[in-house]
Amino acid sequence: MKRYVILISGRGSNMEALLDAGLPGVCAAVISNRADAAGLDFAASRGIATAVIDHREFASREAFDAALAAAIDRHAPDLVLLSGFMRILSEGFVRHYEGRLLNIHPSLLPAFPGIRTHAQALAAGVRLHGCSVHFVTPALDGGPIIAQAAVPVQAGDDVASLAARVLAEEHRLYPRVARWFLQGRLSLVDGRAQLAGEKAAGGSLHAPQAD
Ligand code: GAR
Repeated sequence: MKRYVILISGRGSNMEALLDAGLPGVCAAVISNRADAAGLDFAASRGIATAVIDHREFASREAFDAALAAAIDRHAPDLVLLSGFMRILSEGFVRHYEGRLLNIHPSLLPAFPGIRTHAQALAAGVRLHGCSVHFVTPALDGGPIIAQAAVPVQAGDDVASLAARVLAEEHRLYPRVARWFLQGRLSLVDGRAQLAGEKAAGGSLHAPQAD
């Protein structure tokens, strides 16, 4: 069984979706940069090891990232899932986990990287919004996209209503992608996400209904 570690900063609803999905792997630990992250209690209630590495206790990003990597590597994971982890990671950290570090982002990348994605989408007037799961590279929210789910923007949507519909899709998409990885079907090849069984050239890994 492959082992995975989940990193959170807050609520942890995507983490819950991952833990409830019956993934073919072992969640070795949930680690947060904030002691008050609500998701830590849920993970502990499932008997999962938790740890807090508080970024405010470190003088530099590199020092924090080194401590975080040490906490992660203690569990020897095959996969690290950023799940609402709201820290920019240094290049050294990202390279250390190259090909086994995934993130979920609440927009159809490359549109709307960064924060406040739902407000950005509403301000831009897009008709389709959504979420993306991607391999993490040093470029912020810029790594190879693995899968996306689109959410139509409705007349009268505000940030809360749009965020809620996107979040529901996140909870479907992230476990599906994690399952692919843990099954050994998903890898990073020459800077592209490759899913075994998918047609290569131009074949976008949208969110198919069937696994
Ligand atoms: C999710 O919407 C996730 O996509 C987003 O934060 C939220 C965390 O919610 N992540 C980012 O914006 C990463 N840049 P959760 O803690 O309930 O999963």
